[in-house]
Amino acid sequence: MTRTRIIICGACGKMGGNVLSLLADDPAATAVCGVDLYPKEIGIPVYTSFADVKEEADVIIDFSSPVGLVDRLEYAKAHKLGIVLASTGFTAEDQALIKEYSKSVAIFKTANLSLGVNLMQALVKAAAQVLGEHYDVEIIERHHNLKKDAPSGTALMLADSVNEAFDNAKRYVGGREGIVGAREKNEIGIHAVRGGTIVGEHEVMFAGEDEIITITHSARSKRVFAVGAIRAAKFLPQKAAGMYEMKDLLAEENA
Ligand SMILES: NC(=O)c1ccc[n+]([C@@H]2O[C@H](COP(=O)([O-])OP(=O)(O)OC[C@H]3O[C@@H](n4cnc5c(N)ncnc54)[C@H](O)[C@@H]3O)[C@@H](O)[C@H]2O)c1
Repeated sequence: MTRTRIIICGACGKMGGNVLSLLADDPAATAVCGVDLYPKEIGIPVYTSFADVKEEADVIIDFSSPVGLVDRLEYAKAHKLGIVLASTGFTAEDQALIKEYSKSVAIFKTANLSLGVNLMQALVKAAAQVLGEHYDVEIIERHHNLKKDAPSGTALMLADSVNEAFDNAKRYVGGREGIVGAREKNEIGIHAVRGGTIVGEHEVMFAGEDEIITITHSARSKRVFAVGAIRAAKFLPQKAAGMYEMKDLLAEENA
């Protein structure tokens, strides 16, 4: 069996560690090296820059940060590797860069690699289609106190799924403060709660007259995301250049 050879960007972080420990027991994939701004001894070579990588690989898993995005995209392009972009917090310019590189690189990008959140995207869109304008949609996300970006990429992804049901006419409103006036109909509120060691919780609330419907997802460990990243890494090699997401992977696995 040929093993999928993986470079882990952000190898010394929490998610990098989860990916590495799962790969230790995976006969079909292996970590050839890591790239991390702050290298540690983790049992594989770790470089501070892609320019120093010597190992041959098939794919990059990126669990680092938006910083240095162009270097990893350029490395993937130059070496004909796929890349799983799992970092969050990308700016609009970053998104445009990713789109540009997807003309020559197979890019798997999602802010949430869990199967449950993928299903939740479909559920909230269906709920929005049924409930329509009569229900106010508010999204509450909760994460640990070390998370750098807010709101979470997953909260934005869920907002996008709801918004699709309204032909993208809704406006996203962050944590309200002061005399903000009555809630406008075209708002989707998005609120970020930070504390302790919460792995990641997302609640989409549809508040109507005299009733509330909530759809929630709670990640109980970061392992669930590492499992998804490795599935995505195995999916990417041999794929044509372009953008891929969880639903493409699930369609292929269930075909
Ligand atoms: N898509 C998903 O399902 C999913 C799930 C969990 C976390 N994430 C995202 O993954 C990222 C990492 O999360 P984490 O909890 O492991 O964070 P972390 O802070 O524990 O680890 C990040 C690691 O990346 C390194 N790093 C940062 N910038 C770098 C760069 N430019 N080049 C190389 N290395 C760099 C850091 O030194 C650190 O070791 C975050 O953006 C987080 O939001 C995504």
